[in-house]
Amino acid sequence: MVRHYPFPLIASRRFSRLNSVAMKTYTLMTPGPVPLPPEVLQNLALPMEHHRTPEFVALFGRVLERMKQVYLTKEPVFIHTSTGSGGMESALVNCLSPGDKVVAVVSGKFGERWAEMAETFGARVNRIEVPWGRAVRVEQIEEALKRDPDTVAVLTQACETSTGVLHPVRELAKVVSKHKALFAVDAITALGALPIPMDEWGIDVMVGGSQKAFMLPTGLAFVSFSKKAWAIAETAKCPRFYFDLRKERAANAAGESYYSTAVTQIRALDLVLDIFLKQGLQRVYERIQTLSKATILAARDMGLEIFPEAPSPSLTAIRIPEGIDGQKVRAEMETAHQVVVMGGQDQLKGKIIRIGHMGAISDSDQVRTFEALAKSLNKLKSGTVSEAQLASARARLKTVLAEAPAVVMTEEKP
Ligand SMILES: Cc1ncc(COP(=O)(O)O)c(C=O)c1O
Repeated sequence: MVRHYPFPLIASRRFSRLNSVAMKTYTLMTPGPVPLPPEVLQNLALPMEHHRTPEFVALFGRVLERMKQVYLTKEPVFIHTSTGSGGMESALVNCLSPGDKVVAVVSGKFGERWAEMAETFGARVNRIEVPWGRAVRVEQIEEALKRDPDTVAVLTQACETSTGVLHPVRELAKVVSKHKALFAVDAITALGALPIPMDEWGIDVMVGGSQKAFMLPTGLAFVSFSKKAWAIAETAKCPRFYFDLRKERAANAAGESYYSTAVTQIRALDLVLDIFLKQGLQRVYERIQTLSKATILAARDMGLEIFPEAPSPSLTAIRIPEGIDGQKVRAEMETAHQVVVMGGQDQLKGKIIRIGHMGAISDSDQVRTFEALAKSLNKLKSGTVSEAQLASARARLKTVLAEAPAVVMTEEKP
């Protein structure tokens, strides 16, 4: 199991300054990108092959087929060589026409991004503003759809990564399915981290990203459409070229990708799907859920407050006590303790830190993170966390993490 995440050595002398940075070892605890398992790092270093060779075409077909098991859908899953935001754009341009009415849940940075994107493509967006840290209420969406039955799509995050909140996706899907509107979910920080069965819950459009629970570098986006969404996608009028799923669907049906594809990443995704599916996704979810529980309880043991009202298992946002600048806490954790966590953005700048629970995180990474957090808080304001509080957080982590299934890696190393 990887304890620290060694950045690769950059060989050229021109990069000697970068080398000193690259040689440092960090414990990466961010909610994406996440630490990669050693098997994945090794796989990423394999020699390049062409994406049209029979071997790669067979692997690509296997990956597409098995992605359906993560999405829990019978519909095709598409892979774009883009970041997650590309997947969000693909979702919009394939099911919207300029002038369409859209309801968008805006409960943080990523909700804002999706609403803005929809406006950019000419949609008329009704923003359901939710205070940051809160989950959207199902009635808010129900009312919006009753008021505007012509709404073409409801957009939401499953987990709003900027606040750590988990929205009630299943309940929202139930409500939206009674209307004409499509239910589109940005599940970038949820897919692979928690159960979100697309077909069973009635989700019409679902987007995922590689740098989160999939334990890969940033650079792949995943999208799947229900039959209801496809019926609209055939004739939707938003301009689409690179992200036109109709082209991709035809190419995938013939066993290929439409464009050149990210061979290196897709091969590593094949390996991650082995890890996921041979051990069962349930085990992956349990590991993440236990890391989340351990983090929440240990933070409370240290006298800290959890920021969102409904925390997502994929990350925990912790409120920084009054009088301490969270940006400085984050920086201190990184520079003095080599533990990398995320801070808050916009209105949450300096007020929270966010700790991820996805990827190859060991129990000792978790303990190290809390030690770094306690020391950093105390450096900025002495006495914030007592020795006794830190000791009970450590003990808590030990007990709770003992419940977690073994670190999810290949079968040979349970
Ligand atoms: C919920 C959510 N949506 C969208 C994105 C954007 O993804 P990307 O940065 O890969 O474009 C992220 C990235 O962190 C995310 O967490």
